[in-house]
Amino acid sequence: MTHASSTQTVPDAGEVPRHVAIIMDGNGRWATSRRLPRVAGHSKGVDAVRATVEACVSRGVEFLTLFAFSSENWRRPADEVSLLMRLFVAALEREVAQLRGNGIRLRIVGDTSAFEPRLQTLIDQAQQRTAQNTRMTLTVCANYGGRWDILQATRAMLSARPDLAADPAGIEESDLAPYLSMRHAPEPDLFIRTGGEQRISNFMLWQLAYTELYFTDAYWPDFGAAELDRAFDSYRDRERRFGRTSAQVAAPAAIPGA
Ligand code: IPE
Ligand code: IPE
Ligand code: MG
Repeated sequence: MTHASSTQTVPDAGEVPRHVAIIMDGNGRWATSRRLPRVAGHSKGVDAVRATVEACVSRGVEFLTLFAFSSENWRRPADEVSLLMRLFVAALEREVAQLRGNGIRLRIVGDTSAFEPRLQTLIDQAQQRTAQNTRMTLTVCANYGGRWDILQATRAMLSARPDLAADPAGIEESDLAPYLSMRHAPEPDLFIRTGGEQRISNFMLWQLAYTELYFTDAYWPDFGAAELDRAFDSYRDRERRFGRTSAQVAAPAAIPGA
């Protein structure tokens, strides 16, 4: 099943975002400001993940997506990359039972073929063990990039449907959508980036088309329920128009296609 597209239909928008997508940024600066090594910030960041998952579940969020490692993060010093990989392994080993008990379905999205075999096995097992859960879907984007996703989806679509290449003008959004790596989730309602930078850094380029953007200076290790509620307060005040006018948003029944 694929979810509705914000450019094809006008989605329903509730008070609480159904899907929250977060760029967890600022771990390094959090550590540096305390005269600690950058990796201490990444370790502390794992605690913030736990707190944020719990806060989202208790507020009724259905999908939480976290950017953990980008396609471009391989450019970092080798020791930082290997520490991040070790933290990922440790988190999967330690946290999956808890996720399972709390009704959380875990999905890992990205080019996982680049990871060491042990990590790939842990990822497969974690996904299998939590596949039946329905309370919330937690997606962790690892070795993920928005461009990687659009390219891999295009390749997969054309391999499965060579007929489309013969008639490019006939290709629709809905032909590509089933091959995107986030096909299991609706488009995000709310995007949050911590750490003060106001950029997308190759995250969910396709899916953020109509997502509300929220930026906070808080470093990721300091993020939790209180910061999340601040973002939700901001979200509640937004008028999501999806291309329409304010008057149309107020009286959607009168509008064709609404
Ligand atoms: C985010 O924090 C974690 C990853 C990108 C893996 P950073 O490590 O980017 O922290 P800053 O931006 O250098 O402070
Ligand atoms: C984005 O953060 C990626 C993740 C949080 C995983 P970066 O810290 O890598 O982004 P840039 O390099 O500052 O844009
Ligand atoms: Mg950063």
